[in-house]
Amino acid sequence: MDHFLYKNGTLHAEDVAIPEIAAAVGTPFYVYSTATLTRHYQLFTDALSPLPHLVCFAIKSLSNVAVLKTLGNLGAGMDVVSGGEYLRAKAAGVPGDRIVFSGVGKTREEMRLTLTGGIRQFNVESEPEMRALSEVATSLGVTAPITIRVNPDVDARTHEKIATGKKENKFGIPIARASEVYSEAARLPGLKIVGIDVHIGSQLTELEPFEQAYLKVADLTRRLRSEGHTITRLDLGGGLGIPYTRSNEAPPLPTDYGALIKRTVGDLGCEVEIEPGRLISGNAGILVSKVIYVKNGEGRDFLILDAAMNDLVRPSMYGAHHDIVPVAEPPVAAPTQEFDVVGPVCETGDTFAKGRDLPLVGEGDLVAFRSAGAYGAVMASEYNTRPLVPEVLVNGDQFAVIRARPSFDEILNRDSIPSWL
Ligand code: LLP
Repeated sequence: MDHFLYKNGTLHAEDVAIPEIAAAVGTPFYVYSTATLTRHYQLFTDALSPLPHLVCFAIKSLSNVAVLKTLGNLGAGMDVVSGGEYLRAKAAGVPGDRIVFSGVGKTREEMRLTLTGGIRQFNVESEPEMRALSEVATSLGVTAPITIRVNPDVDARTHEKIATGKKENKFGIPIARASEVYSEAARLPGLKIVGIDVHIGSQLTELEPFEQAYLKVADLTRRLRSEGHTITRLDLGGGLGIPYTRSNEAPPLPTDYGALIKRTVGDLGCEVEIEPGRLISGNAGILVSKVIYVKNGEGRDFLILDAAMNDLVRPSMYGAHHDIVPVAEPPVAAPTQEFDVVGPVCETGDTFAKGRDLPLVGEGDLVAFRSAGAYGAVMASEYNTRPLVPEVLVNGDQFAVIRARPSFDEILNRDSIPSWL
């Protein structure tokens, strides 16, 4: 459920009419709903209670500082994958002891930054990384809390580009080698083992792969404890999928996911961490765009929008589906027409949808891409020198621009001309 509904014939974000925002900021723009973000975060904490737990929002999915502050104020932790994301979490006022650091390529600079600024744990992904962290922590005279990410060799049954838990993927260490790697970690100075980490992929629409992975983690917890390690935390990753279409999709609910976690690892006496991104932010955001032209082609009609693949890359990158709806509510049983929905970027891949049945819309009309809160604005670029799309946050009947559209001067001033020219 989200808070983007038609009221009096116009699409609203909570109590704010979308055309009102469009008039203030111009199109295209992203809008996020505070009530939806809050509700989705709350679903996870409720699902995990009464287990001791921390919901660490995967900020790669939506990293605007105002959004992070909204979630941080509710008590959320953050899952970061770079020094930049860490600085965003800190700028949102999230304390270091609620920030976990994931990712396969943490640099020594990033280790220094986060060890100095405060960090809850590093989710270590390889032996070379573990040794580097030991060196950096020792040189700073501190101890780095770590989990080791294990790769459970489970098929997440999701898009190949976002599956991470098979042995051929670059993530984690093979679970079969865990004893060996934990025993090296225990010997290295400057490291303190606190738990185990696993993440098998994104947009999972079934619970079974999670179950397989978490049962393996439960076995591993017992084994590592019997080998003398202290395992007090289990980071179970993110990945729970969301419905991208209104009609036929019913991915598992956070309550069922929570019940699965309790069933598989709940008796181990560990604090549970999860790293959901998409489920919190995905349906908490839409991308609003304007129709520039309706072009009648050979046997097909094109809806040419002012948003493009650089603003929302998921359809061209993953073949992802986003529902597209007119901002003015179409009358019941209004006629529809098949359109190829495209942007102005000069490549055929700049196509949001092919042969999509849409209510009749014309030049100047506003349309909204649903489920665009996750991996939307964060993956945007300025390809074709199209300014990054502004972001707007709604809270009840108020809205605020939380990232302004850069001016062309700002964009051009980032380039500099060498002295020989
Ligand atoms: N934790 C780790 C270690 C991750 O790698 C990810 C996502 C998450 C948590 C959050 O997963 P989520 O709950 O959002 O599924 N750009 C792609 C998705 C990439 C996901 C990468 N890792 C897309 O647009 O579908």
